[in-house]
Amino acid sequence: MNSTHPRACDWKFEDLRPNIMGIDTMVPVLDGSRVPYVFLDNGASTPSFKHAFEVMGEFMPFYSGVHRGTGFKSLLATQVFDEAHDLAGAFVRADLERNTVIFLKNTTEAVNKLANRCDWRDGDVVITTLMEHHSDDLPWRKHAHVIHVGVDDKGYLDMDALRDAFARNRGKVRFLAATGASNISGIINPVHELAEIAHANGALMFVDAAQLAPHRPIDVLPDDDPGHIDFIAYSAHKMYAPFGIGVLIGSKEYFSQGDPDMVGGGVVDIVETDYVAFSAPPAREEAGSPNVPGAVALAAAIHMLMKVGMDRIAEHEHLLVSYAIEKMKDVPGMRLYGPVEKDELKNKVGVISFDIDGVPHAKVAAILSAEGGIGVRNGCFCAHPYVKRLLQVDKETADRITEEILSGDRTNLPGMVRASFGCYNNIDDVDRFVAMLHRIGSGEFTGDYVLDRRSGTYWPRHFNYDFSSYFPHFSFRPTTSITEFTEAS
Ligand code: ALA
Repeated sequence: MNSTHPRACDWKFEDLRPNIMGIDTMVPVLDGSRVPYVFLDNGASTPSFKHAFEVMGEFMPFYSGVHRGTGFKSLLATQVFDEAHDLAGAFVRADLERNTVIFLKNTTEAVNKLANRCDWRDGDVVITTLMEHHSDDLPWRKHAHVIHVGVDDKGYLDMDALRDAFARNRGKVRFLAATGASNISGIINPVHELAEIAHANGALMFVDAAQLAPHRPIDVLPDDDPGHIDFIAYSAHKMYAPFGIGVLIGSKEYFSQGDPDMVGGGVVDIVETDYVAFSAPPAREEAGSPNVPGAVALAAAIHMLMKVGMDRIAEHEHLLVSYAIEKMKDVPGMRLYGPVEKDELKNKVGVISFDIDGVPHAKVAAILSAEGGIGVRNGCFCAHPYVKRLLQVDKETADRITEEILSGDRTNLPGMVRASFGCYNNIDDVDRFVAMLHRIGSGEFTGDYVLDRRSGTYWPRHFNYDFSSYFPHFSFRPTTSITEFTEAS
């Protein structure tokens, strides 16, 4: 894991695509053939780098408990685990004299941890935005009054409303919590400007970097800089190391105060039956035996990304997203959400949300898979308020749909289709995707799709994905059972 690792030293941009596990997977489509899979759902989870998986494999013979055992393997594992923390901090240029790197499961757990560890007072306020993934919204609601600053029709944060929210809650705001980049519009927030506003108002700045970290270089800035990001979180499963690690970085002082939210093994210096002294962070915040293999894989992936250079990756993804949007504009019935003009795209990560007039979003996603071998995501992407705002769903409609969903019918669930790029996607992937969109937009798809009202998903009639011929270790149930469907569309 050290910086002179021979295989980590010479990574180039061109190495990324061949290093993706499963890049050549052939998948079945409706006409009975198999086509190379195009994966455009990297915003949800990326595939693994082979390098991350291999380094993790090389580590496994040494797998052992960390911070406890005295044997050779434990000592080695402990060093590796600690260095992985340092690398995760270096990735965002955190000052590790003052800040600690805590390994958790994912970004969701990181935000919960951060919120759980605050010494909340009555009347405390958290300002967040309407752009947030639920993981940077719901954890705060458990502790404080949460204000969601609105966005404009394209999805940009309303900076005047943000300043106004601070002015109206003077002295009460503990955190400004904002996403680094939206998982729906791809908009990159001006996080350092937000931090300056938060600090000028006595609040701390948290950035949910789950969607930013895989796409752009991040610098949290020195702790005494007004634009410093006090706390930041990101997830390995969106960074080519999907083995169950999330990262939370923030001041040692914050995590040294009060008791950890989860206690048990590994968090203490000394325990009596009536006394507990907790260890220094990060150990006190990482209760239980940690995910050392996941940490090794994350470190290997970070190493690779840093060697290639996040600027180089950003440049490539900008090309992809610009090309894709220009091509998508010609698709019949296409509606694009978020920034779509050339001069706006520099400030957007590779996430494109859209729908096609007259074809439900779930059906578009089903056709892309069944006829194109293309994986995307559709729906509300765990950010319901933002999606409804972008779709301009009025309150009355939203209430009616809520009733329907609560009664088990998701037919009218508002949503979009999302294509999200990773560093390894290429122009061919985009061309295959856009060609399928043309077929859908012009009604030239071939399948007959039926809707399952309960899940809101569409399936091609009489077609089953035969998973067991791909992965024989499990006994799969049929993916579709036509009797379960309540309506043909
Ligand atoms: N947050 C992930 C997504 O947007 C899961 O798909």
